[in-house]
Amino acid sequence: MNVFEKKDINDLLNRTSPLKRTLHTWDLTFLGIGAIIGTGIFVLTGKGALTTGPSLAVSFLIAAICCGFAGLCYAEFASMAPVAGSAYTYSYISFGEIIAFIIGWDLILEYALGAATVSAGWSGYFVNLMNNLGIHIPKVLTAAAGTTPGITTYFNLPAFAIILLITAILAMGINTTKRVNDTMVIIKLAVIILFIVCTVWFVKPQNWKPFTPYGLYSFHNGTAAGVIPAASIVFFSFIGFDSVSSSAEETVNPSKTLPRGIMLSLGISTVLYIVMTLIMTGVVKYTIFAKFLDAPILAVLKTTGQTWLSIIVSIGAILGMTTVILVQLYGQSRITYSMSRDGLFPKFFGEVDLQHQTPYKGTWFFGIITAITAGFINLNILSELVNIGTLTAFILVSAGVLWMRHKHPEIHRGFRAPGVPVTPIIAILFCLLLIAGLNWETWLRFVVWFSIGLVIYFNYSYKHSKLRDK
Ligand code: ALA
Repeated sequence: MNVFEKKDINDLLNRTSPLKRTLHTWDLTFLGIGAIIGTGIFVLTGKGALTTGPSLAVSFLIAAICCGFAGLCYAEFASMAPVAGSAYTYSYISFGEIIAFIIGWDLILEYALGAATVSAGWSGYFVNLMNNLGIHIPKVLTAAAGTTPGITTYFNLPAFAIILLITAILAMGINTTKRVNDTMVIIKLAVIILFIVCTVWFVKPQNWKPFTPYGLYSFHNGTAAGVIPAASIVFFSFIGFDSVSSSAEETVNPSKTLPRGIMLSLGISTVLYIVMTLIMTGVVKYTIFAKFLDAPILAVLKTTGQTWLSIIVSIGAILGMTTVILVQLYGQSRITYSMSRDGLFPKFFGEVDLQHQTPYKGTWFFGIITAITAGFINLNILSELVNIGTLTAFILVSAGVLWMRHKHPEIHRGFRAPGVPVTPIIAILFCLLLIAGLNWETWLRFVVWFSIGLVIYFNYSYKHSKLRDK
């Protein structure tokens, strides 16, 4: 029984792709920013600030460093194997099938649960915007049960609805065309810059004191607090840069453009995040965010009295989060499509609708499950599970770079991550640090998810794998 059977990188490289190469560095950067900036900055900053106080900017920096090092490893892999499938394909080449399956299974956490998390964030801003416009959605239908202390809620109807809507769009084959994505990204960036320019004048440096009320890592009211646990939470804000590597088959000169696209989108997001969080914790005392967990930016605008700006920011946030959901659901359908093509998932997920050219059955299957999850489960629980799944994928990609340099130094790499072996080792250590900052309940949920995956692998995927058929 060889569960570690590997795909041959040369087979993959020799396969001709039906996709057209049209994307350049700035297209990829916009694609990256479209996938990166969303619920993390617009929503999770509230919980992040309560976890570590004004030092939230430092937590963002730590998460950014982790992603920067992992990003270099993604870039090297993408330049070596510029084929679709991202971390799933990279692991199939370097570590073999079972690890690839685990990563694919993990990516479901990143993409499907990620989309559910972002839709819950989307819902918070949507409900606020509707309230401002005088349209009141019944409170019980605005969030999952037990989400807001003191308020009875049962189901997150807006989150459920937006996931179904985007699923329908994806299943019809209206993919994120470059233009739609670029427009939404420009609006998102414009809104963030407007927010920064309008609120920076209201910063009161005394709000930054004490800067680290909970230190690096401590326990406060029974949960982990401090700079590291907050970094583990806001890590979510950076998820998405890896989706740039998924477009390898559609990129012009991928070995140069992919690494640039990944690093540029990460760099721009990091600068914006750090400036924004310094302003947010500088304008209001961080404890205020306890009352604004679903839309913390609006707490800042309430304090500055710029209510006119809240409507603009809400629209920007809603559009911004829409692109993130779109990219994640798209990524989800393509990963399960690849796994089904390899025989690791049932054919059902790989069946392509001839008229629309999309794997519509898989798209709907996961769309419906994701929508139901978004309706019933608390955003904070979801986001931490997404984080641990993604951190695990980062660890495997970084370890994959180490392994491939050792085993296959002869393969051409258009981009070589600088400082190997130190770079991937630092990436792995940072990922482990961020995993350690998550709550033990999250580790436990992850172990359960992982175990279900192994049961499926041994009972289905191993027996149906196309690689073993040959
Ligand atoms: N990074 C994405 C977001 O913050 C997932 O919404």
